[in-house]
Amino acid sequence: MINKKGSRYVKVDPWCIIEENFDKSNMRVLESLFTVSNGYIGTRGYFDELFTGDTHIGTYVAGVFEEIYEKPSYKGVPNRTQFIVNNVNWLYTRIIADGEELDLNHSNFSEYKRVLDLKKGILTREFIWHTKKGLNLKLKFERFISMTQNNVCCQKIEITLLNRSGKVKIISGVDFSHKHRIYDTNYWERLFKSNENDYISIGCKTIKTNKISIANFKIEASKTCEQGIVEGEKIISKEMVFDIEENETVEIEKVVVINSFDRLNENLQSENGKLCQSVFGQYSYSKLKQEHERFWERMWEEVDIEIGQDSENQQGIRFCIFQMLQAYSGMQQVVAGIGAKGLSGEVYNGNSFWDSEVYCLPFYLFTNIDAAKKLLEFRYYTLPQAQQRAKELDLKGAFYPIATIDGTESCTLWQHANLQLQVSTAVAYGLYHYYIVTKDEKFLFEKGTEILIEVCRMLESRCQLGQKDGKYGFFGVMGPDEFHMMVNNDFYTNYMAKKTFEFTIEGLKMLKTKDEKLYNEITRKTELESSEIERWADIAKNMNIIQDPQSKVFEQHEGYFNLPHIELSTIPEDQIPIYKNWAYDRIFRYDMIKQPAVLLCMLLFSCDFTFEEKKANYDYYDLRCIHESSLSPSIHSILACELGYYDKAYEYFRYATRLDLDNYNRNTEEGLHITSLAAAWLNIVYGFGGMRSDTVPIKLAPIIPDNWSYYSFRIKYNRAVLKIVVDPQYVTIKKLKGADVELMVYDKTYTITEDEIKIPIKKRR
Ligand code: BGC
Repeated sequence: MINKKGSRYVKVDPWCIIEENFDKSNMRVLESLFTVSNGYIGTRGYFDELFTGDTHIGTYVAGVFEEIYEKPSYKGVPNRTQFIVNNVNWLYTRIIADGEELDLNHSNFSEYKRVLDLKKGILTREFIWHTKKGLNLKLKFERFISMTQNNVCCQKIEITLLNRSGKVKIISGVDFSHKHRIYDTNYWERLFKSNENDYISIGCKTIKTNKISIANFKIEASKTCEQGIVEGEKIISKEMVFDIEENETVEIEKVVVINSFDRLNENLQSENGKLCQSVFGQYSYSKLKQEHERFWERMWEEVDIEIGQDSENQQGIRFCIFQMLQAYSGMQQVVAGIGAKGLSGEVYNGNSFWDSEVYCLPFYLFTNIDAAKKLLEFRYYTLPQAQQRAKELDLKGAFYPIATIDGTESCTLWQHANLQLQVSTAVAYGLYHYYIVTKDEKFLFEKGTEILIEVCRMLESRCQLGQKDGKYGFFGVMGPDEFHMMVNNDFYTNYMAKKTFEFTIEGLKMLKTKDEKLYNEITRKTELESSEIERWADIAKNMNIIQDPQSKVFEQHEGYFNLPHIELSTIPEDQIPIYKNWAYDRIFRYDMIKQPAVLLCMLLFSCDFTFEEKKANYDYYDLRCIHESSLSPSIHSILACELGYYDKAYEYFRYATRLDLDNYNRNTEEGLHITSLAAAWLNIVYGFGGMRSDTVPIKLAPIIPDNWSYYSFRIKYNRAVLKIVVDPQYVTIKKLKGADVELMVYDKTYTITEDEIKIPIKKRR
């Protein structure tokens, strides 16, 4: 069991994240929570105006990164880290009244409130500022990043003078001068500034990677004012001085277009000009807002989860869904994966991990299929980099990087970068899962086949025969449990490889039958030989999967059962997290595991294992797992639901929906735990809902926690939107939109139409 304490930063509300008590010491946690994004641009919830207190001003644009090199060391060990760069602060604002500059670190203010409205996707903040000379100004800030226009961000400021008239100066612009927080460096060189059009622009490039970002903005004010331009080296802004009457409200609307280019080219400015003309020509702030709100309204109709009589988890799960949908939308034109922190912070460098396919993909498969496809396309477009990486490791085929932005390996820790094969098998699993759920043969055949062939080639070249047992396995690897490295015959790695071979062979057979021409083209392109397929079948058949015949427990890796045991409950609280408090090599000497590996396999391939096997392995590994990754508790909770351990299931679930909202891991300030947000959704849909999607048709087997009066979830499946309501007596299912679909509920198949089906709830064993 986990013993972590959360803190409450925001008010519990079903649809909003509300901060009412201003506390300077929490600013960075709240900035993470108030992130707004559209998958291409992400902006932390920092203040628009000057704030001299502790803050992390951070805006990130997918695919815009810098890199640093270390000294080259051994062959195959990466020496370059890529990191997403802190991009333009498009909210840059300064407000001066009565000769005083607004700064919530020092200014006197009251009635402060910041609200992220999840239903509409709008962040607002308001308060009354009392200047030293006695002027009271009501200020309201509003922002959103358009979910319908990839490059567009919107900011609005409303100022009302409450007790007399006065002059207010507003400076508003775009600023590239912020430092990357982790490396304490500004990575931008200015290329140009321009004020010749009816909008204002500044273009900058990163120092080493030559990535270009151009920020363009247009401001509309509700009242005429004196105007000018204020410029600095990497900043350009508009200065406006307003004479405002008592009780008069002035509104300032700013639309910002952020454009990025992969490399310098002569047409940058003209291409940027075209985009600006199209956006500024067609859209006003209010039109953009209307479109954006309509997007969210439609989205929620299709993806909402309701939880009866549990307001904390209700808020928590909607927060998770909202952040997931805005972290990766499928709309972005750049080839990019989803970062472990989305676009909400710098930790993990904006890199994508195996989390994408194993944890995030299932969420998108049932909520936003475009995003799911885009995630897999990222792996298709970066296949050449994975092939290059395999060569560096003396392997054939394609070895997908453990951490990456552009498809190259960005992790300089050799034990992860060289020993973890789990991204390659996750990509293969992602393709399999995507196909099972969508039946999109075109995508599987045209893009998936090549990936699968190359991953199998890598696995074949990495796989070896054990001298004693004469079986195939992987030697010197690290599985998902990062508390054991350089192990042999890791269960997860062996099993995932076996399955990868098997479904690649199946896929190739299917392609040959259905489209022989394409099959021939692909085999010619990849130079695939039939002898390779035979070898893969042989390896899959003779893969070493170690299971204790009596207990039915799969050994996590060869020798694991012999490792010294440590009772997790005896580890003092102040030594947790272990990875920060124990000498690195000490961690590897016990049977304590960081996160599930054997149990994860049992969820990914839910039909391959018997109930008894699942139970035996759960009972064994649950006692040994310290859950030091936020990816961990939800998997235990999902299996606990299946096994009938309802109290445990709920206990693990407690951390899921509010991990960031209540800052359980004490590091939300660094950014959101995107994978764990996805895992919270999995926890409800796959856990309490009992969904399994590795079979056709998908299965449901709902249960309900004792303290919930009901819960409901919606999934998009086979061109239909389904609503599933679970109460203590019944599971009620109906189709909200689209074609009729087949579904299995407690092992019986039903056709789901607009007419409600009511099925009595079944307690599991
Ligand atoms: C986990 C990995 C995960 C990474 C990024 C680590 O703590 O152990 O499995 O890929 O975080 O989320």
